[in-house]
Amino acid sequence: MGCNMSMDNLSKMNKQAVVHTLSTDLNLTDEQKQLIKDSWELFEPKKTAIGRKMFVNLFQVYPEMQNLFPEFRGQGNIDKLEETKFLNGHAKRLMTAVENSVNSLNDFESCSTYLQELGRRHKIRKLKPHYLERMGAAMMLAFKELYPDLWTEEADEAWNNLYKYISNMMTTGLNAP
Ligand code: HEM
Repeated sequence: MGCNMSMDNLSKMNKQAVVHTLSTDLNLTDEQKQLIKDSWELFEPKKTAIGRKMFVNLFQVYPEMQNLFPEFRGQGNIDKLEETKFLNGHAKRLMTAVENSVNSLNDFESCSTYLQELGRRHKIRKLKPHYLERMGAAMMLAFKELYPDLWTEEADEAWNNLYKYISNMMTTGLNAP
């Protein structure tokens, strides 16, 4: 079941659509893990471009979210930001976290502590679970836009499952006392 994300879907994402039951399982078959690893090898050289595209997608629909990131605060319209250094900070850090997750696919337990800790560190950054959903939708759309031929329904489902795991782990850390 692919999610076939579009800007329209992204903009319609319901603010209330928060994950209520957080699964701590990595819901991926061996085939899906392999698909993610194989596709990441192709995405990796363009990971900065993917990260930039993701933020452009996110801010085009939710411009107010620029204020959550110090590097974007007060920088004005995203169209003017696109070619500047401003998109290299958090975009890079986020893609590194995704890369770490891909590299831990066969030992995912070890990654869950890292991701929960990452979520915990986002408490002071005003992160809300529904922001993570928006970010995920913007990321999937970036993959699809930059790699239309690789972005099959199978790739969409596998990457969505991986992102859901990342997001659930971060939310667990975020909600921890
Ligand atoms: C809308 C959701 C998010 C918000 C509002 C947010 C906000 C922030 C802010 C304000 C910082 C510190 C300044 C900076 O690096 O720009 C930061 C750092 C960081 N963020 Fe996020 N973030 C979000 C989602 C994510 C996601 C989904 C990931 C990873 C998958 C991530 C990974 C990181 C990493 C690795 C750092 C570097 C510092 C650290 O390790 O704590 N962030 N984030």
